[in-house]
Amino acid sequence: MLKQEIEDGQSSLADPAFRADVLGGLAARPRAIPARWFYDRRGSELFEAITRLPEYYPTRTETALLEQAGPELGALAATNAAVVEFGSGSSAKTPLLLRAIDPAAYVPIDISGDFLRQSARALGQAFPGLPVHPVEADFLRPVPLPPQVASLPKLGFFPGSTIGNMNAWHAVELLRAMRAWLGEGARLLIGMDRIKPVEVLVPAYDDAQGVTAAFNLNLLERINRELDGTIPVAAFAHRAIWNAHAARIEMHLEALRDVEFTVDNRPFALTAGETIHTENSHKYGPNGARQLLRAGGWTPIREWTDPQDWFALLLCEAQPLRTAP
Ligand code: TRP
Repeated sequence: MLKQEIEDGQSSLADPAFRADVLGGLAARPRAIPARWFYDRRGSELFEAITRLPEYYPTRTETALLEQAGPELGALAATNAAVVEFGSGSSAKTPLLLRAIDPAAYVPIDISGDFLRQSARALGQAFPGLPVHPVEADFLRPVPLPPQVASLPKLGFFPGSTIGNMNAWHAVELLRAMRAWLGEGARLLIGMDRIKPVEVLVPAYDDAQGVTAAFNLNLLERINRELDGTIPVAAFAHRAIWNAHAARIEMHLEALRDVEFTVDNRPFALTAGETIHTENSHKYGPNGARQLLRAGGWTPIREWTDPQDWFALLLCEAQPLRTAP
C-alpha cells in the first residue's frame, strides 16, 4: 500500500465516536472535548509522566496511603475477592493492593488496549498464579465482567481521583453503575482529591517542565493524526485554572491568535483568547466526599488521609437495596 493510501485509510478507520465528539465539541459553545480522548498511546505515556512530576502530589500521596492502609485492608477484604480496577493505566499502584489482600483474581479495565495488555502481562509476571483478566473498555459504558469472576465477591478499585474528572451528576451515575455492576456485598476502594490552597493545586496541573501542557496539546495532535485535522498546534497554549465556585481545576486549550483550521474537511475558527475546555478535576472536602459516595450507593466504612489532608482513600460498602426506615 502507498503511504497516501494508508493515511487516507487512517481517517476512514478513525473511531466514529472520536470524530463525533470532536466535531460536536468544537462546534458547541463553550467548546469542549471529552477528556477520555486524551488517552491514545502517547497520551497514556504522557499521563504516566505526569504522575511522576514533583508538582503532581496526588499519585505519591495516594501511593503512601495505600502502603499505610495495606495491613488493615488485608484484614477487611474478603479472602477470595476479585479486584476490579477502573481505568487501570499502567497499574502502578495495583501491586500494593494485591500484596495487601491476596485476591483470587484481578480484572483491569482500561480504554487504551495495548497499554492495558502490556501492564496486565507485567502484573501477571509479578504475581505468578494470580489469574488476570484484562477488559479493554471505557468503564463509563460497562461491559460484562469476565465469567471467571462471576461468583467471586468484588472489590472495586478506583484510584487516582478519577471520580473527580466527572461532574457530580455523572459521578453519582457512575458510582451507581459500579454498584449494580459489582453486585450485592461488593466493596469499593476509591481515591478522592481534597480541596486545598490554589498555590498547590494549579502547579499540579501546570508543571514547570510542561509535561501537562504536552498532554493537553497531544489531544490536538491526535485530532490532526486521526481525523485529518489541520490544527496549528503551536497557536494553542495549555491553561489550568481553579474554578472556586465549582471546586475544580479546569484544563483548557487557549488560542493565542485568531486561528482557522479544518477537521475531517469541516472548517472551524477561534478568535484569540477563545478556549477549548478539555478536563475538569473536582476536589472534595471530607463531608462532600462521603456525601457523593452515599448518593452513589456506597457507604464509606473506613478512611485514610495524609497528615496534610491533601488526598483521601475511602473504603466503601455497597448499600443494601433497602435500608430502614
Ligand atoms: N484524575 C486525576 C486528576 O484529576 C488524573 C488526571 C486526569 C489528570 N486528567 C488529567 C492529571 C489531566 C493531569 C492532567 O488529577
